Amino acid sequence: MKLSVQGLNSHYGPAHILFDVALEVGEGEVVALLGRNGAGKSTTFRSIVGLVAQRSGRIVFGGRDVSDRPTHEIVRSGLGYVPEERRIFTDLSVEENLEVGRQPQRPNAPYWTCEKLFTLFPNLGEMRHRAGGRMSGGEQQMLTIARTLMGNPSLVLLDEPSEGLSPKIVEQMVAAIQTMKREGVSMIVSEQNLHFARLISDRAYIIERGRICFGGTMAELDARPDIRDAHLSL
Ligand SMILES: Nc1ncnc2c1ncn2[C@@H]1O[C@H](COP(=O)(O)OP(=O)(O)OP(=O)(O)O)[C@@H](O)[C@H]1O
Ligand SMILES: [Mg+2]
Repeated sequence: MKLSVQGLNSHYGPAHILFDVALEVGEGEVVALLGRNGAGKSTTFRSIVGLVAQRSGRIVFGGRDVSDRPTHEIVRSGLGYVPEERRIFTDLSVEENLEVGRQPQRPNAPYWTCEKLFTLFPNLGEMRHRAGGRMSGGEQQMLTIARTLMGNPSLVLLDEPSEGLSPKIVEQMVAAIQTMKREGVSMIVSEQNLHFARLISDRAYIIERGRICFGGTMAELDARPDIRDAHLSL
């Protein structure tokens, strides 16, 4: 098992947000975390990487218990996190943004270079000297993912990668995620868009009001339109 989360409970101040969240990602697997606005997708990711102060539960990544480790240590152990907000450096060029994310090569994870990432995201290669602030939202989204890959993670948490993208850019994003998977990157991809999730993932979890209410293959989910209609807005 690449990542295992058990009994995750998270709070923001007095508000209890996540209730006994449990999920698993196998080696090389792509898993979708589906749920409506405010369901708890981002909080789940933030909790896994140690960005939620009040959390309890057990998080095992690559065979190591990281439940109480600080964020920088978790990320340096090969767990990449691409937040919902695109946090690129607007004054730095595409190449410079990528350099910021560079970490040493690590065993059991694919190794990325700028050139390899420009093959993964061809339009980033065409604008390698452009300032980050002069890129479209979709291009910035790709740059954020590419910068995370410069850290050579073995698993990546991708928070709503298709959000706000044009259909053409969505297509490129699907292709990039499929290539990342082929290269051996395990992923959890949070999504509201079931069609996008279906194109990239092996399995899916549905989260609603901080609770996991479904876990299964995409085929199992397709066989349960009742669950889909109750917990996802399509
Ligand atoms: N910093 C915060 N302080 C207090 N409550 C928060 C905070 N961040 C999120 N919440 C609440 O926690 C719940 C889960 O939010 P979260 O952002 O995890 O949902 P989400 O599934 O990522 O939604 P979206 O699809 O809109 O990104 C929501 O009720 C939200 O209002
Ligand atoms: Mg979110």
